[in-house]
Amino acid sequence: MKALILVGGVGSRLRPITHTSAKQLIPVANIPVLSYVLNSIKEAGISEVGMVVGATATEIRAAVGDGAQFGLNVTYLQQDAPRGLADAVLISRDFLGDDDFVMYLGDNYVVDGIVDFVEDFRRDKAAAQVMLARVDDPRRFGVAELDVDGRVTAVVEKPQDPRSDLAIVGVYAFSPLVHEAVAGIKPSWRDELEITDAVQWLVDQGHRVGSTVIDRYWKDIAGVDDVLEMNRHVLETVEGRVDGEVDEASELVGRVVVEAGAKVTGSRIVGPAVIGPDTVVQDSYVGPFTSIDGNCRITHSEIQYSIVLRGASIEGVARVEDSVIGRETEVNAAPRTSTAHRLVLGDHSRVRVGC
Ligand code: DAU
Repeated sequence: MKALILVGGVGSRLRPITHTSAKQLIPVANIPVLSYVLNSIKEAGISEVGMVVGATATEIRAAVGDGAQFGLNVTYLQQDAPRGLADAVLISRDFLGDDDFVMYLGDNYVVDGIVDFVEDFRRDKAAAQVMLARVDDPRRFGVAELDVDGRVTAVVEKPQDPRSDLAIVGVYAFSPLVHEAVAGIKPSWRDELEITDAVQWLVDQGHRVGSTVIDRYWKDIAGVDDVLEMNRHVLETVEGRVDGEVDEASELVGRVVVEAGAKVTGSRIVGPAVIGPDTVVQDSYVGPFTSIDGNCRITHSEIQYSIVLRGASIEGVARVEDSVIGRETEVNAAPRTSTAHRLVLGDHSRVRVGC
């Protein structure tokens, strides 16, 4: 069995972070979202991985390489434009050969992985298997209807009037029959070759499509709130550890990770929180659910419920909350006498200032 991971697309709802990096590489608890996906694939006993890349191919290649660091063998498959999830299967035909495969959308995170899902598929020997979860608002997702045995009877992509609350999580398993399906469908109203249409094609042809309904946490990373929510969730599972330096004037409360080379002086850190390698936290408060990546400087500031990417600095700012701060970004306090805000912001930045 092989795996196909999809990391094409542009991540427009995560701009400006995605101007300079792929959204699947945004760190959560200081680990890129895509690493969680790769670890799940490995854990499911799969080692041959096809990575469908688009405009962000260079960054993805730099981060994942040949996959050896994950115990995987990664082959890159270039998609010329985001023409849909079924198009990704179409262009991967040679790589996939006649093997069964798991297709995993690289912007999805499923806690506790996909081992049970792959076992279900192997046992049922269906033409395809979809992972499903009950959601409050199914209109954002592909939506499935099941019969009493859990077989899929219909799937619709982002319906206005959903006929069930079962959303398609971004994990699928396919037999080689899917190649006939993707060749048999036409682009949708949004001009994409939809994988939901390929699944529906299999159902219409009388093939068995199975389902695994999960009730554990999963997240489809679309916007900033999703990344922050996933960060909170992952940090809940982190064990405290101090490999860096923490001086006597500092206090660590709860589960706090201080990575090697990090220096915490005169500060209070309330976990769960992660302080990355070679980061300096000085005379500051770092509150719960905060991930600060490597080589950052937090001085005379307060921050919580946030993600700070590599090389950023925050100086004299009280307080930063529910924020994602990009790489090498500087956030400074204006002098007290100043009533004006002086801003140097990249395209698509979002800033809230007190008036
Ligand atoms: O997250 C679950 C949902 O994912 C499902 O419920 C939907 O049925 C499914 O269509 C998909 O919907 P999205 O609209 O969220 O898909 P998105 O365009 O965000 O793409 C998902 C991933 O696939 C993302 O990592 C980018 C990548 N991708 C996307 C397209 C359209 C590609 O690699 N190539 C593409 O052509």
